[in-house]
Amino acid sequence: PLAKPVDEIPTGKLRTLQRKARDCQACPLWRPATQTVFGQGPADALAMLVGEQPGNQEDLTGAPFVGPAGRLLDRALDEAGLDRDTLYLTNTVKHFKFEMRGKARLHKRANAAEQEACRMWLAAEMLQVRPRVVVALGAMAAHTVFGNSFRVTRERGRWRGLADDVQGIASWHPSAVLRMPEDRREEGYAELVEDLGKVATTIKS
Ligand code: URA
Repeated sequence: PLAKPVDEIPTGKLRTLQRKARDCQACPLWRPATQTVFGQGPADALAMLVGEQPGNQEDLTGAPFVGPAGRLLDRALDEAGLDRDTLYLTNTVKHFKFEMRGKARLHKRANAAEQEACRMWLAAEMLQVRPRVVVALGAMAAHTVFGNSFRVTRERGRWRGLADDVQGIASWHPSAVLRMPEDRREEGYAELVEDLGKVATTIKS
């Protein structure tokens, strides 16, 4: 259930997909990146959380949501009553994109062509996991799942039907919460927890 159809969806179980994605060269991001950061979680997860793209620490470890944004997400999941190990966590784009600034690798946003090239992996993950709930974290994921006219600012926290028996919801990206001005951050975090709480209620019912 993605907003736009995908031409050729890779086949195989999650482990096979992960292996295939290791060698992906569908866009130029593979070359400077350390490795593909594929999704993580059980194939029978009821909920799939879709982020934007791996950051520096995800690139180095090969796992999604392990850096600062991941730590904030972990805290929010916990407060919302969701167990991370029961969820499938993945990203819209599966390679880290960066530019060198001195010795630091500064995060750069994947462009539309890079997002498009990577959509086949998300589609393949969805076919394997078949989640009941898809949670788009941030605009990049929300546009991929709901279409480009979706506005997280206006439409977060509301359920939308994606397919038979598949519901979608969007919320703030944890990195966006971290970047919010100090006086807004606590509220943004509370909204993320509130939206994840809706996910908890839905998958437990
Ligand atoms: N931000 C994301 O969108 N995904 C990650 O895996 C880490 C940070």
